[in-house]
Parts: sequence; C-alpha cells; structure tokens
Amino acid sequence: MDLFGRDLITTQEWSLEELRAVLDLAARMKRERFSPKFTSLLANKTFFMFFYNPSVRTRQSFECAATELGGHAQFLEPKAMRLKTATSAGETVEDAARVMARYAAGLGIRILEDRVGYYGEGDELLREYARWGDFPVISMAHDKYHPCQGLADVMGWAEWFGKGPGKGLDVSVLEGKKLLISWGHGALARSWCSVQEAMLIGSRFGMDVTVASPEGYDLDPQVIEWARENCKANQANFAITHDVKAGYRGAHVVYSRHWMSPQAYRDGEFLKQAEIDRALKYPEWICDTEKMKLTDNAIFTHPMPIDRGHEVTDEVASGPRSCIYDVAENRLHVQKAIMALTMGNL
Ligand code: CP
Repeated sequence: MDLFGRDLITTQEWSLEELRAVLDLAARMKRERFSPKFTSLLANKTFFMFFYNPSVRTRQSFECAATELGGHAQFLEPKAMRLKTATSAGETVEDAARVMARYAAGLGIRILEDRVGYYGEGDELLREYARWGDFPVISMAHDKYHPCQGLADVMGWAEWFGKGPGKGLDVSVLEGKKLLISWGHGALARSWCSVQEAMLIGSRFGMDVTVASPEGYDLDPQVIEWARENCKANQANFAITHDVKAGYRGAHVVYSRHWMSPQAYRDGEFLKQAEIDRALKYPEWICDTEKMKLTDNAIFTHPMPIDRGHEVTDEVASGPRSCIYDVAENRLHVQKAIMALTMGNL
C-alpha cells in the first residue's frame, strides 16, 4: 500500500486497510521503539508544525516522533509569518504552501475553535494548504477533526481489550464493544474535533456508538450521519440520548468530554465566556464512579487535557480502568507511523 504524499485531515477519508496499516506499524514501533529499522525513516527531512493554538501532547509527541525517525520537526506560529488575514494584508496560503513544500517533507496544522470565525473555517484552511502544498498535510487537531487522536484512541482501547498496552494489537477486539461519548460540563469551551473523530473511527472499527448530551449540544449533522452509516455498515448500533445516565448502561468505553454548543459563533466571533456560562448549568454531567458502575466494567478514556472535577472525577480519571496515559503515549507511535508512511523513506 502506498500512502506516500497522502494528506490526513480525518480518518473518515482513509480506507480501513490504510488505517490498519498505520495501526499495525504504530504497534511495531511501540514494541521496538528505537530499532534501527525505524530510526532513519525521516533522515534529513523536516516536518513543519504550524500551531495557531497551544498544545502539550501534540507538539511534544510530533517533535519526539520526528527525532526518533531521524528527522527534525520545526515549530511555527502565525505570528512568525506574514500571512494574509481577513483584516490585514500579507502572503496568501497559495504562496506560503507552495514555498513550504519546497523545504519540508510534510506540514501539520493545528487551528481550533477560538482561532476561527465560524465552525468549519479551520477545516477549509487545512484543505487550502493541502490544495497548494505538494506535500502531505496532517491535521494536528482542527475545528472539525483530530485524526491522530482518533488513531491513538482506538489503539489504546484495542490494547486494553486485547493483550495489554505494548503487547501487540488486534483492533477486531473492538467489534461489538459499546462506546459512550458523553458531554461533560466544564470551565473550558472545547471544539468538536476529538469527539467527532472518536465517533467516526470507533464506528469504522465496528463499535456501537452512543452520544449523550444535554439538549442543545448537537454535533455536526454530517459527522453524525457518517457515524450512523459506519455503524450500519458494521451491523452496529448508533444512538443519541439526552439522559445523563442511560448511555452508561452496558458501555465498554466511556469518553466524557466537554464540547461547545452549535450557538458558539456569532458575527465571526467565538463566544467563549457564553459557552462556559452555558455549560456550568449542567453539573450532573460528570463521569463519576456511580455512573461507571452502570457500565460493563468500562474503561475511561479522554484525549486530554482533562478538566478534572467537571468532565470527570479524579477517582475515575486516575482509577484502575483509566487508559488516558496509554492513549496519550500512543499519540507518539501513531504519528511516527503516519510520518513514516506519508513522508518517510520506507
Ligand atoms: N489531545 C491533545 O491534542 O492534546 P494537546 O492539546 O495537549 O496537544
């Protein structure tokens, strides 16, 4: 399979065979982390990391990934460039992308909810770079999707239901498992990217998916439709509930995270404080031990950073069934695999 040069904007746009190739390679890279088989795959090559928003995991794991593959990751921010915006003159995306592709082997972009004027603007920006730049463009989380997180999620869940973290990977163990994606109340206003990617990739791998939220927190209807179709193709169930507890019954994986409402933008502005105020009205929407008891001994997952005490209690987040650190570690391994396959000397 040839993935060289491929963009990764969402896992929904890659075939199951391609996603399995990434996960298989990631699992091998995890087991044999510093094997000479892998340490020159990006030799002499640079990966640009273009961040409109801050990050712990994404920046650090991509930078470590490039190092471990023998390459280099360069950190870029908009303020270090002179790009044209809606309010200021500057360089077009076409020019920037065409030049950047003459230097680097690939480009990662992060642009989240508070750096765009409407939902979908970040996705449009990534696709504009992908259109003009003759190199792979990888989403490092944007307003719609977070493909590297989604791959790390399913890798972690499959490890937990299989032989254990780092002991081999068989994603078929996820078939028939129930994934609950529950809205969590919180003091952060968060984008839809991580939960949308999780529901897409979980449903691709045969999981039943339930999305739970208070009324008024609908996600992107197109993504919901795709997730529904993915489930149907696998004879799996897709459900939406507005009951705070119902989705926990029989769940195998519980994902509790805050996300913004569809009313988050007005006149090109992200209404962060209004979103925070709205969310604090629902304190019962927290993942706690009582709700986890309703599950089928579920694992707790979260892409991090966690808003502890709002999205989930410390007892659950740091409990024996929490896979958060394994999933976070897997960001490194899946990104090494993605870089090796899309831009490396395989
Ligand atoms: N999960 C995730 O993308 O974490 P960061 O925002 O810290 O990169």
